Amino acid sequence: MKPKEWISDLRVYEPGKPIEEVARELGFDDIAEIVKVASNENELGPSPLAVEAMQEAISEVHRYPDGGAFYLKRKLAKKLCVEPENLLFGCGSNELIVFLCHVFMEQGKNLIMGAEAFAVYFLANALYRGETVRVPMPGHVHDLDAMLEAITPETRLVAICNPNNPTGTMVSPEAIDRFVEKLPDHVVAVFDEAYFEVMPEAMKPDVLKHIRAGKENVIVLRTFSKAYGLAGLRIGYAVAHPELIRLLNKVRQPFNVSTVAQAAAIAALDDVTHIVETREMVSGGLDFFEEELPKLGVETVASGANFILVKTGNGRAVFQALQRRKVIVRPMDPYGLPDHIRITVGIPEQNRFMLEALKDVLS
Ligand SMILES: Cc1ncc(COP(=O)(O)O)c(C=O)c1O
Repeated sequence: MKPKEWISDLRVYEPGKPIEEVARELGFDDIAEIVKVASNENELGPSPLAVEAMQEAISEVHRYPDGGAFYLKRKLAKKLCVEPENLLFGCGSNELIVFLCHVFMEQGKNLIMGAEAFAVYFLANALYRGETVRVPMPGHVHDLDAMLEAITPETRLVAICNPNNPTGTMVSPEAIDRFVEKLPDHVVAVFDEAYFEVMPEAMKPDVLKHIRAGKENVIVLRTFSKAYGLAGLRIGYAVAHPELIRLLNKVRQPFNVSTVAQAAAIAALDDVTHIVETREMVSGGLDFFEEELPKLGVETVASGANFILVKTGNGRAVFQALQRRKVIVRPMDPYGLPDHIRITVGIPEQNRFMLEALKDVLS
């Protein structure tokens, strides 16, 4: 075989392990005893309305899905006060990041991202031989002025994860507006809002207003994987100017989002109660961790998402020790944060179990 050199050199994304795999490795019989708080999933589970819609949709899976996602597009457009032409769906928002790199990145061009930001931007960019410029994040926060300064004529994409994964930090709505105003026309700004639904109201950005006003080089990515509790279905969406959506649509496979995923997403959008309960679970859990973790002598980073970054010292050793106590978190060395772990907020019982396990590990 003679694969392309830059493909064989690629680093593969290291996702959180499935519970079953950890149970097998550590010899635990009952997976129900394991607390997996490693992938920022919704521990309340999916909306019951979505489950019902999926059950109904299953009988139609002998047919290809609607590639244009007609009903979902109409429903979401109405909710977001945009036009259906402003929307595109992906097999998770991850796929939309790959579409962006497919359309804009190549050798000699660069993508700008935060030094401690979501790794998929770097990995997708590498697929197309783009250079990645990592801008330092003082206090773990995106420095939008420094990102603007890093732009060169070769820059094609600037990615701002807000809140950022894995730090949970946010940028203010005012800082975003100033950034968008100064953004050069040759660069597309990607606002990755994977955790938008659980953000504190005062910090929720309104990037969509720029898109409604006709801004061509701004795109918002969101997902049904987090607050909506549908990570296993793989469905996310982009909101942008119709011209940018048309470009991204050129690299999309015709049936990239399944019938079941579309049906679940339509139903999930109706389930306001599920989202309200999710928000309450997350804010209650963050309060709990912010109060209890410092008592163990560890530092936390204020979070606007459904997870919290914790400085425990030797994150990988703590991760392994927690695993032996049936708790799965994420070590943060791949993000250049070797002293940290990331904990997803769960239901109160899981949070307490997690805290006791960490107490045990650190004592
Ligand atoms: C910032 C950010 N963007 C995008 C994603 C991708 O989510 P999905 O592909 O499940 O929609 C994640 C998931 O962890 C994330 O944290």
